[in-house]
Amino acid sequence: KRIQIINGPNLNLLGKREPTVYGNQTFEDYFQELKQLFPNAQLDYFQSNTEGALIDKLHETGFTYDGIVLNAGAYTHTSIAIADAIRSITVPVIEVHISNVFKREEYRHHSYLSEACKGCIVGFGMDSYRLAVDSILHF
Ligand code: DQA
Repeated sequence: KRIQIINGPNLNLLGKREPTVYGNQTFEDYFQELKQLFPNAQLDYFQSNTEGALIDKLHETGFTYDGIVLNAGAYTHTSIAIADAIRSITVPVIEVHISNVFKREEYRHHSYLSEACKGCIVGFGMDSYRLAVDSILHF
């Protein structure tokens, strides 16, 4: 199966960004581990700090892949445009968060994306991505 992982703003700084919340592994390192865990899947990775670039990647992969794993970072809590992009494509999107957003500030408790997604995986650290990929492989 072909799976696109999309990370939004500030997730390029994983490893050095607030390590007590997000851990100290870079996503690039984690992505190598993930590929080894799923040697039979084709995993592609994209990161952008820009809302429009995230939407473009959803459009680009959203009709041909088997699943999309999306951590939209803080756009989760603000972006009707990303929610509409998820509704506009046919490939199922799994929303993921590294931290348990429900244990954090009130403004992180609402997601515009969740109701447009197939499901959400929240709060398992980097393992949230593995759980999401695994769920797509079980569709
Ligand atoms: C996050 C949670 C968001 O609230 C935050 O803005 C992020 C990361 C997470 O993976 O825990 O950038 O999506």
